[in-house]
Amino acid sequence: MSVVSVEDVSKTFGAGHTAVTAVDPVSLSVDAGDIVLVMGPSGSGKTTLLSMIGTLMSPTTGRILISGQDTSTLEPAQLSRLRLREFGFVFQTFNLLSALTAEENVMMPLLTARVPRKEARAKARTSLEQLQLGHRLRNLPRDLSGGENNASPSRRPEKSTNSPSS
Ligand SMILES: Nc1ncnc2c1ncn2[C@@H]1O[C@H](COP(=O)(O)OP(=O)(O)O)[C@@H](O)[C@H]1O
Ligand SMILES: [Mg+2]
Repeated sequence: MSVVSVEDVSKTFGAGHTAVTAVDPVSLSVDAGDIVLVMGPSGSGKTTLLSMIGTLMSPTTGRILISGQDTSTLEPAQLSRLRLREFGFVFQTFNLLSALTAEENVMMPLLTARVPRKEARAKARTSLEQLQLGHRLRNLPRDLSGGENNASPSRRPEKSTNSPSS
């Protein structure tokens, strides 16, 4: 079974003469272990497509299945759980919480997933140390460089904390 199955998905923003079709109908599937690149010029719909696959936005037409489950049938709370457990996002902008340190930012999704605080802290430290950010645990995002900030969210999903190559 495909991990991701995109079936005739399209996205149109707005309506009437101001409507913008960001994604024309597209189908694709991704199996476990696949590495897929989505390439195209600026404005061609890459972010919109990835936002729909990541269940942050719903398609105008078509449907998206994650591990065989039709995401259109899920309630918002179920979608939140799916994103928390199944997805790792590296956003174009860092989306770090500015009042929290690097360590706390990495801990946050683990705490949301009910990992005990002590364990979450240990995992966050290990992950940041793997990225040579062990000396930046207590820094706020504004004190970190662009590259350092980018590393923090990439460490956020629980699954990736044990695998430096992910
Ligand atoms: N929320 C939105 N409302 C209206 N138009 C949007 C919105 N988001 C994206 N678009 C438009 O959809 C098209 C695709 O955008 P996007 O997916 O961001 O492209 P890419 O990531 O490939 O640069 C663009 O024309 C963009 O202006
Ligand atoms: Mg984009």
